[in-house]
Amino acid sequence: MGSNQLRESIVRIFLQHEGEVVSGEQLRRSLGVSRTAIWKHIKQLRTQGYVIEAVPSRGYRLSARPDVLLPAVIKAGLETALIAKNIEWHAELDSTNVRAHVLAEQGAPEGSAVVAECQTNGRGRMGRSWSSPPGVNVYTSVILRPALALSAATQLTFLAAVAVARAIEKVCGVRVSVKWPNDILLNGKKIAGLLNELNAETEGIHYVVLGIGVNLNMVEAQFPPDLRYPATSILLETGQLVDRVVFIRALFTEIDSLYALLLERGFAPVRLAWEALFDLVGSAVNVDDGSGGVRGIVVGIAADGALLLDTGSAHPRTIYSGDVRPATLA
Ligand code: BTN
Repeated sequence: MGSNQLRESIVRIFLQHEGEVVSGEQLRRSLGVSRTAIWKHIKQLRTQGYVIEAVPSRGYRLSARPDVLLPAVIKAGLETALIAKNIEWHAELDSTNVRAHVLAEQGAPEGSAVVAECQTNGRGRMGRSWSSPPGVNVYTSVILRPALALSAATQLTFLAAVAVARAIEKVCGVRVSVKWPNDILLNGKKIAGLLNELNAETEGIHYVVLGIGVNLNMVEAQFPPDLRYPATSILLETGQLVDRVVFIRALFTEIDSLYALLLERGFAPVRLAWEALFDLVGSAVNVDDGSGGVRGIVVGIAADGALLLDTGSAHPRTIYSGDVRPATLA
């Protein structure tokens, strides 16, 4: 076992015995190394922000861990069947989506996740950038390899939106809404965004990268001044600091169960869950569809997830892609 793996194992054992004293002997036996080696790695972990107390003649207790999304820490409390069994972590990355494409091309197993503390070139929809300051939010990309038709790929966007909404509700205790097709709003402001990218041929999907950015502990000064849509974070809206490890575990868990549901029962239950979060039905909106824009009243979404808009003609207009803005926002 290499030094990094050994330290990950020590952290895992501490997390399995949260709040308890773990004896040096127990660590030595579980890991098959000398007590001196364990002591050396504990000292090393302390320099990384782990607060490990030495309890005289009993052992060690982990009383605080650094606020870092380290794979060993995330995995210690994760009970997913498929998602995030492999996690690749980076202190800094251009974009987790870009890295996930590389891993997917190299054959990374389905469910593999890339996590970064910050992104230097975080990508948003429609060629925009995604503000990704260090240590405050979640930036992750998950690789899926669904045996679905190409036309079903958008279903995964709805799935990811529901997963983010549920994770926010469970961990932060606030209800969020969705904005078609894939934004998550809190109090009418954008709190999370999804960039799902597809590698496919006409016969089917090779893989999908679900790119997810959630603004958790970001403060006002960390938002770019020229935002197209009002944006916010959990901290700004609720005053609560979110434990990012707890949040990302909840997110992976929700993706895991919704993905199993989608594969087993099809799109309908995911669509219903998404519709329950869609507050814009009956509202006037402007949709930038890349060809001049459409204005209308939201009727709902079609069976395949397309947006149905009442534009005053006999039948609702079906919109497959675009950017929705409530007409109340100039
Ligand atoms: C949008 O609303 O415009 C989509 C934003 C998606 C941002 C996430 S952060 C993790 C992943 N990596 C990226 O470069 N983008 C997505």
